[in-house]
Amino acid sequence: MVYDNIIFKVEKGVATITFNRPEVLNALNEASLQEFSNALDAVASDEDIRVLVLTGAGEKSFVAGADITEFLRFNVLKAKLFSETGHTLVHRLQELSIPVIAAVNGFALGGGCEIVLGCDFIYASENAMFGLPEINLGIIPGFGGTQRLPRLVGKNMAKEMIFTGKMISAAEAHTVGLVNTVCSQDQLMSEVMKTAAAMASKGKASLRAAKQAINSGMDVDLKTGCRIEIDAFAICLSSSDAKEGTEAFLEKRKANFKGTLQE
Ligand code: COA
Repeated sequence: MVYDNIIFKVEKGVATITFNRPEVLNALNEASLQEFSNALDAVASDEDIRVLVLTGAGEKSFVAGADITEFLRFNVLKAKLFSETGHTLVHRLQELSIPVIAAVNGFALGGGCEIVLGCDFIYASENAMFGLPEINLGIIPGFGGTQRLPRLVGKNMAKEMIFTGKMISAAEAHTVGLVNTVCSQDQLMSEVMKTAAAMASKGKASLRAAKQAINSGMDVDLKTGCRIEIDAFAICLSSSDAKEGTEAFLEKRKANFKGTLQE
């Protein structure tokens, strides 16, 4: 597959998708969204990939939102299709069976911010800025921002950000629980890769079960969420990875998980 707007690479079980239009701060045009979708197909179909990392090219921006130059030729139907495409992509990140880390190396605005909201967690460089500035264009977020931001940072903080379009710094994003770790631009990718490698060494079936239990549990009441966990736990415990993990502990050696979903 040839990519012009993203860079897709896989190394030691970790796939990295880099949004690559630095001249426009990696703004997402339709071609980038299509290529992102194709790369997600490749990730989903490769059993050897255990973690996905998303980042942006250059030192200034992760993704500065949808490509505004394409908006003027959108009619209502085209706008709906564009928004649905974005929703589908962010949803796919959530539904991927492997962990997805956003390595936010600069602006994560509009659609860029909404993409990181669909990731499992976020590491950011000190210069990163987060925001949903659509209100400044006379529109609203269209890739799930009005739904996921309040769920993550609380309703009132999300309303202020969406109603004013203001950006928040990496430090503030860390304070409100949007970002797990803030590091220097120089160290961002090495810190992300360290965490990715740590997760890649775990059993794929248990990572998938943990992700699904947390994500499904967040949308239901506690009692239902706990039932989801009980079922996921029982399935995990009967997997070959669980056998390997417990045997390795008892034999005082490092577990060698197969990293496969086939039991
Ligand atoms: N769509 C299309 N082009 C974009 C873009 C976007 N979302 N964001 C930035 N660009 C382009 C700029 O037009 C500029 O192109 P030019 O060099 O041909 O003029 C280039 O990227 C660099 O951006 P610039 O505005 O000069 O950088 P800056 O450091 O002064 O400002 C931002 C950075 C992110 C504050 C500013 O670019 C911005 O507000 N972008 C739009 C963000 C937005 O509204 N996103 C949501 C879209 S729905």
